[in-house]
Amino acid sequence: MRSLSFLARLLAAAAANDLTRGLAALGSAAENCATRAGAAGLDFARCVQDAASYPNFLLPRPLFDEALRNASCRLPGASRALRRHTLDISAGGSDCSEQARRLDVEVFREHPPVALIKGFAPNATCARLLLVAGGLDSLSPAVARGVAGGFYRRSSSKNVANHELDAHPALQSLRAEMFLAAKQLTGYSLNSTSPEPLNIAAYRNPGDEYRPHCDGRCSGDRHRPGERVATSILYCQVPTEGGHTTFTHDALKIAPSEGDLLVFGYLIGQTMARGEAEHSACPVLAGGKWIATQWYAEENG
Ligand SMILES: *[C@@H]1O[C@H](CO)[C@@H](O)[C@H](O)[C@H]1NC(C)=O
Ligand SMILES: *[C@@H]1O[C@H](CO)[C@@H](O)[C@H](O)[C@H]1NC(C)=O
Ligand SMILES: *[C@@H]1O[C@H](CO)[C@@H](O)[C@H](O)[C@H]1NC(C)=O
Repeated sequence: MRSLSFLARLLAAAAANDLTRGLAALGSAAENCATRAGAAGLDFARCVQDAASYPNFLLPRPLFDEALRNASCRLPGASRALRRHTLDISAGGSDCSEQARRLDVEVFREHPPVALIKGFAPNATCARLLLVAGGLDSLSPAVARGVAGGFYRRSSSKNVANHELDAHPALQSLRAEMFLAAKQLTGYSLNSTSPEPLNIAAYRNPGDEYRPHCDGRCSGDRHRPGERVATSILYCQVPTEGGHTTFTHDALKIAPSEGDLLVFGYLIGQTMARGEAEHSACPVLAGGKWIATQWYAEENG
């Protein structure tokens, strides 16, 4: 028995040593790549992956992802859009006024899509939403532990029921416009009868973050009816420093302004995306952040 536990300790020590070496190697690869590849984005991700390639590496995938994401968060600046275009949407509010809006869109990834709509919601709509939600102090802590110890997620959040939104014309049309924008930008046949409530999340303290995760099943297998296929995030308050949204595998780093709406999908044909779906909220360094997240499913059949 004694020799067995000795062996177990030896193996554990070797594994811990591998992790330390793996993280150190990835850290220095990221530093080299930051000077060579520059801005956050695919070139940076490829550079790090080439220098410290997975799986011929000492880190399990979740740790590798987290370290790559941390490196993206640390890079100065943000990713540049691949292209820009305009999007026309018209969603009648409860007053039935059919007014089309032309919106500026920045595309960061084509497929599965990641796109940012500039100036989607005015501050007054965010203020109304917060009022209906009961204010930031009414959110509950959303805290979970991470693979590397420390926090996987540290923020606070709350769901706002659909009927509460529908009681306010401005919020009802916000919902309708978010749906239309998500549908057009993803090209998915999204189900407008959203079963999921809008989620309010706040990152109010320095270090608050949400490490790499998927909103749906990032399993790489066949899509199942009714499951999440896309997400939109409305940024109602952005921090003065940190708090960017990243997509791990292509090291995208998005720096939205207040009122912008991020839309991303994770369905490729009939297959659920894997790594392309993984995203994170970088640690907030200064100022506060609060967002409203909506998840979408496709129509059945
Ligand atoms: C990533 O950064 C967090 C702080 O945001 C840190 O606690 C964690 O250990 C880092 N993870 C890795 C794998 O470097
Ligand atoms: C937006 O509204 C909030 C109140 O909800 C206010 O504190 C903030 O200063 C406003 N921002 C701008 C840019 O008007
Ligand atoms: C849309 O979602 C609702 C709620 O889950 C469901 O009852 C309805 O059948 C779905 N509609 C279609 C066309 O899939």
